[in-house]
Amino acid sequence: MKKSLSKTLLLALSLSLILLLPFIAFSDSDDDEGEDHEWHSNLRHGYSKHLSPAVDPLYQQECGACHFAYQAGLLPKASWEKIMDGLDQHFEEDASLSSEHASAIQEYLYANSAENSSARFSKRILRSLEGATPLRISDIPFFKHEHREVGTRVLARKSIRSWANCSACHTTAKRGIYDEKYIQIPR
Ligand code: HEC
Ligand code: HEC
Repeated sequence: MKKSLSKTLLLALSLSLILLLPFIAFSDSDDDEGEDHEWHSNLRHGYSKHLSPAVDPLYQQECGACHFAYQAGLLPKASWEKIMDGLDQHFEEDASLSSEHASAIQEYLYANSAENSSARFSKRILRSLEGATPLRISDIPFFKHEHREVGTRVLARKSIRSWANCSACHTTAKRGIYDEKYIQIPR
């Protein structure tokens, strides 16, 4: 009687182990392409979930004066080069800088461009660009794909106006966090 009970127990134990095995084995699987809505840690498998915030004070001051100071990891280096080479005619504005400020900002942008970013989004941006170097983040195929459900009438709202206005909808954009959870489309 006692012997058969321990046998049953042993059987049950090994059965549950076999059933659990796939979960144990795959719980750490790579979900690069998957929709990962859970925060585990920012750094997973060598790349980070969020973009490094644009903390450079000079960059914030000069490139955050007219619009949101975009993280350098949102564009490839060659795009930043084009932007920095054309500041006197920057989207119909004159955004030119002293050469001293320009070279400091250049250094910051190039060192943190998508190629040098460990963010998952930077990798996706580069992959989707296939070598193209647009002036706008909002012209990146990955960007268009992610925003395909936002209609033109929503975008035209006074509180938004333009795709360039990331922080209107992404409440945590400044911190480099574009997670769906923190999107609030203003009225
Ligand atoms: C004098 C104002 C002004 C300054 C200063 C300025 N910008 Fe702009 N920028 C604009 C305008 C206007 C647009 C177009 C915005 C729109 O389409 O709604 C723009 C757009 C952009 C875009 C494209 C956004 C998109 O649609 O994806 C990038 C990237 C950009 N600026 C980078 C910079 C950088 C880098 C600096 C600093 C060197 C800078 N800007 C400084 C006025 C400015
Ligand atoms: C009109 C509001 C709005 C504006 C402006 C906007 N976004 Fe978004 N963004 C969204 C919505 C909505 C989604 C889709 C969320 C979803 O369904 O996963 C999204 C998705 C994203 C994603 C993918 C998030 C994820 O977890 O997969 C990124 C990255 C992103 N936006 C970056 C930007 C950047 C950078 C800008 C500015 C250049 C910007 N967005 C401007 C509303 C906006």
